[in-house]
Amino acid sequence: MAIPPLARPVHIGKCLAKNRFVIQPMECGDSDLRGGFSQNTRTRYENLFRGGAGMIVMESVTLQYDCRCRRHQLLLDVHDQDNRDQWEDFVREKKRRYPDTLLIVQLNHSGELADESFSRRVCVKPLPGYGGVLLEEDDIAEIIASYAEACRFLAYIGVDGVDLKFCHGYLGAQLLRPYNDRRWKYGGSFENRARFAYEMCERVRYAVPHESFLLGAKVSVYDELPGGQGHAGPDSPIIDPEESVRFCKGLEHRGVSFIIETLGSAGFGWNLMCPNRNAPDNVFRHMTAAKLLRKNLRSETTVICGGLSLLRDGTHNGMTGVDPAHGNLFYYGNTCIERGDFDMIALGRQSYADPALPAKYLSGKTDTINWCRCCPGCGTLLMNQQPTGCVVYNPPYAERYRTLKADKSMADRSS
Ligand SMILES: Cc1cc2nc3c(=O)[nH]c(=O)nc-3n(C[C@H](O)[C@H](O)[C@H](O)COP(=O)(O)O)c2cc1C
Repeated sequence: MAIPPLARPVHIGKCLAKNRFVIQPMECGDSDLRGGFSQNTRTRYENLFRGGAGMIVMESVTLQYDCRCRRHQLLLDVHDQDNRDQWEDFVREKKRRYPDTLLIVQLNHSGELADESFSRRVCVKPLPGYGGVLLEEDDIAEIIASYAEACRFLAYIGVDGVDLKFCHGYLGAQLLRPYNDRRWKYGGSFENRARFAYEMCERVRYAVPHESFLLGAKVSVYDELPGGQGHAGPDSPIIDPEESVRFCKGLEHRGVSFIIETLGSAGFGWNLMCPNRNAPDNVFRHMTAAKLLRKNLRSETTVICGGLSLLRDGTHNGMTGVDPAHGNLFYYGNTCIERGDFDMIALGRQSYADPALPAKYLSGKTDTINWCRCCPGCGTLLMNQQPTGCVVYNPPYAERYRTLKADKSMADRSS
């Protein structure tokens, strides 16, 4: 019997992924008090590594602890020996036990999405309702230098690559979007707005010259903010993804070998970023955006489609007029990869619900998969600074979610 496309290995730059499943970066707000690995963090990753995906992208890691969006966000601080040791132990152990799984780390700067109740909010051009201290050119240069330094360390301890975040309204997106029409080296023209990303790639490649260390990027092809990524101008509500395609071409020209497709922003509503049953057609927008990238990028660049958890096994996904035998994760994953629409599929919320999905699919045990219900549970926990995971299949998270909802309805009643 022919091997299904999802089970086939694929080259990503100079590396090889053993199958087409990618685990999305999913922050869980469960690091210890100093941004280090808690037992919970370690257990989560152990479950994911056991789960059999070809590539695992670790959650949004901050390099600037004074400017973060989660109270318990995972930190990489190359100047702190204890933090370095924790990273080194974690990576060495995972690479020893799972040498054929690609381990990628997502690096992120929160910018205007930093939480002011415990952190410092900064911005590139104040956005109504957000704002923050205005970053200057020297600040950007320092941030770029911190990424290069972090990547040198990650390569040294055996990480396979990094995912640079240019999406979901965080700093990488804030600089890139047309709304950043401020007159400075990093604003205005496309060339200026893309400068942060491009300089960062060049500096990282210089710091880690060997190509077996993968450079990748997660990019919102468009978001839901007028003047946002993939919009036609600084205040335009018109979606025009041409610039996002141009941006990704510039990334691959600077050594990026994989792009994780995404849409939307964590700041302005979650429906586009995380399709749910109320707007199931957003799943098809993700696939269309991934295909747009696939069509325009070099064949050597791996295009990874996200936003697919809602597909499930074809049932209870809110889709009408679609036969469940076709409208499901594996059918679309296999047929789209076979047709060349994209190269891999990434699992976000589904990886909370069942970290073992890839292994279950590959061993034919699909009837044992816990399917994500795409409920608001995990997102609500994250936004309330709680340790985050699946509230359907994992009792401690379910309990926390129930308490949160009860507290909220109590507060609503008394207000
Ligand atoms: C609770 C939660 C945490 C997330 N954390 C991250 C993150 O750390 N980095 C990131 O790029 N995206 C993050 N995302 C977005 C997901 O990676 C993914 O793009 C999105 O959930 C859509 O994929 P899905 O349909 O498979 O869930 C998060 C989403 C949720 C719901």
